[in-house]
Amino acid sequence: MSYFFIENIMDHYKNPRNMKEIKDANSVFGDSNPTCGDTVKIFLKVNEGKIDDIGFQGHGCALSMASSSLLTEMAKGSELQEALKITENDLMKELGITELGPNRIKCIALPVKTLKMAIIQYLSKANHAGGGT
Ligand code: FES
Repeated sequence: MSYFFIENIMDHYKNPRNMKEIKDANSVFGDSNPTCGDTVKIFLKVNEGKIDDIGFQGHGCALSMASSSLLTEMAKGSELQEALKITENDLMKELGITELGPNRIKCIALPVKTLKMAIIQYLSKANHAGGGT
């Protein structure tokens, strides 16, 4: 485990970016890691197919919370289709992690999966309303 990785994780864990509820969010989705019970909820404010604002709330290990924080930074300002493409590997690269065991990958997968579901939920609502993205 590299020093850069530990510093980066602890920075995001202690000073989480975008840890907030968005009252007028267009989509809110929460999920949990069934193996440990850690939770992440993501709030999206979408405008013309772009993530204008994003927030998260959650409770969990340093890796899941730091990943959530970093993920919101990566997704903010992105087109929805671009944000959908963010993977666990992208987060690992940004955090300076070269490899993780399967149990720890789940910590990073939780926010990635939750963001995807929040976007899919938004797109599905927009399509049903006939409004597109
Ligand atoms: Fe639960 Fe990391 S130990 S998400």
